[in-house]
Amino acid sequence: MCTPYIPPEVFISADTIAAKVKELGRQITLDYAGKPLTVISISNGAIIFVADLVRVIDLPLQLDSIMLASYNNSTSSSGNVVLRSQLKLDLVGRHLLVIDEILDTGHTLVKINEILSAKNPLSIRYCVLLNKQARRQADIRADYVGFEIPDKFVIGYGLDFNEYYRNLPYIGVMAEDRC
Ligand code: IMP
Ligand code: MG
Repeated sequence: MCTPYIPPEVFISADTIAAKVKELGRQITLDYAGKPLTVISISNGAIIFVADLVRVIDLPLQLDSIMLASYNNSTSSSGNVVLRSQLKLDLVGRHLLVIDEILDTGHTLVKINEILSAKNPLSIRYCVLLNKQARRQADIRADYVGFEIPDKFVIGYGLDFNEYYRNLPYIGVMAEDRC
């Protein structure tokens, strides 16, 4: 049996997310003060997190985005990360802060790292709202992490299942009998 669209129970509330986003913003503001900063958003999942986070980074910054896909409508990464759109800004002489909503197997960030390293930036760092350490396959870590979470499939605040649930204002755990 498969569950129809039912909003999940709250796992991380909107208020808890907002407090964490402010904390990350404060830290990033301190770390990048006086440096040429370009924020790179990994679409679509990161757009809500990025929209909130950049508004609490109190610095001049440039914003670009890149689209990658690996999930193929299931809940486990295919490991085969496909580039769906190109970056537009010149990244030479810039410090790059890549933002994703979740770090899972790590294949996405490894792919991004390959793409960005070839563009000769001054530095590359990673910021994720959620880290699922138990699922890591690739050798990569995030420099800024909002929450460490267990090996559960989560939805909401940008995270999707089959492209649904991204607009939930909080993060919930997907029911087992999903379809
Ligand atoms: P990775 O390449 O396995 O690290 O996966 C990164 C991407 O997989 C994220 O940007 C998400 O789009 C997606 N993802 C990983 N875990 C989840 C989850 O629990 N819910 C929804 N999407 C997820
Ligand atoms: Mg994503």
